[in-house]
Amino acid sequence: MQSIIIKNIKQLVGIQEAWTTCRKGSEMNHLQCLDNGYLILKDERIFDFGTMEKWHSNPSRIDADILEIDATGKLVFPSYCDSHSHAVFAGSREEEFVDRIKGLTYQQIAAKGGGILNSAAKLAMASEEELYESAWSRLQGLIKTGTGALEIKSGYGLSLESELKMLRVIKKLKADSPLTIKATFLGAHAVPLLFKDNKEGYINLLINEMMPAIANENLADYCDVFCEQNYFTKEETILILNTGKGYGMIPKVHAEQLSHSGGIEAGVSCGAISVDHLEYADANDIELLLNSKTMPTILPGAAFFLNLPNPPARAFIDSGLPLAIASDYNPGSSPSGNMNMMLSIASIQYKMTPAEVINAATINSAYAMGVSASHGSITRGKGANIFITKEIPSYSFIPYSFGVDLIETVILKGEVV
Ligand code: NIG
Ligand code: FE
Repeated sequence: MQSIIIKNIKQLVGIQEAWTTCRKGSEMNHLQCLDNGYLILKDERIFDFGTMEKWHSNPSRIDADILEIDATGKLVFPSYCDSHSHAVFAGSREEEFVDRIKGLTYQQIAAKGGGILNSAAKLAMASEEELYESAWSRLQGLIKTGTGALEIKSGYGLSLESELKMLRVIKKLKADSPLTIKATFLGAHAVPLLFKDNKEGYINLLINEMMPAIANENLADYCDVFCEQNYFTKEETILILNTGKGYGMIPKVHAEQLSHSGGIEAGVSCGAISVDHLEYADANDIELLLNSKTMPTILPGAAFFLNLPNPPARAFIDSGLPLAIASDYNPGSSPSGNMNMMLSIASIQYKMTPAEVINAATINSAYAMGVSASHGSITRGKGANIFITKEIPSYSFIPYSFGVDLIETVILKGEVV
């Protein structure tokens, strides 16, 4: 593979020491950068970087066959890590969007058969090939907007057959895409119609049939539960996550999104790698998280789209916690997976500084999806996963310019995409 040198970089953003796995509290407001720099990518890894001054004094290490990119006036970032998505789905749900504009809530729409069950009905009709094709084109869009690692959940299957179908599509995307992909089993996303009056029966199916079949094909890295009123209780969440652990699936939780339901407590007690959403998190949850290795993760797209209260992002950071940002890309609550937009919402609505949102969407979200060794920062030896912006004045210009496409070149696994 051809090596790449990027020269005259106006600013190289997000440099971290190799041992940094996340940034918490006041550290989140520090974003280590280097002005007028170069970056060398070799054998799919970050090989070296430094100032142009250093380069001019010692340019000899360059390969004969190297692609040279001039980044005058441009910034270089580590690729975003999007640690929470539902990017495999069938069809869209804009009719529910219109219902919400007319005054119905997400919960009211779900109660009349819409919501997740609507997507499950659509997914049941779609073939594996159709699901793969539509997800592939969504992923191409995410790559253009700077995402380099993506977690994708099942959870629109809600039957053994359809959950396996979704997870096999994710497995194929993992193999084919330049993105680094992690798969999450979210069979506990909703109770399907067939089990409307028998949630226990559905949980038994999850635990006794789905999990063994998924583990048998090695289809899931993580296991997730939607811990929420009318979905799964705290106790059910703990049971499902602990059983998943026995099959090698690391816990994650959809927690405190529409009400305070105990998802954070459940997640922390099971050693979850992340707890996500957090709109209704309280002071006790902050205490629990402070004594854990769990990454609190906010999903600004879903809160924005559903008009939810802002998650208490400032309270989390100010009490010393780390915080990650992900997109929650899905047809019901976040029809966009554009991480730049997520950064803008978090800055504008939650009062997170540009440095904080960039750390949240790179080093911290890499932790939340278990890819810290290869992603999340400019660090020698990490994977060559970066993007180059257009000519922009500063890194703050990214969250500032909401909805504007500022990324010019994407390099994933050492190759220009
Ligand atoms: O993360 N909260 C639950 N699940 C998704 C929404 C799924 C849907 O509405 O299709 C979320 O917001
Ligand atoms: Fe979600």
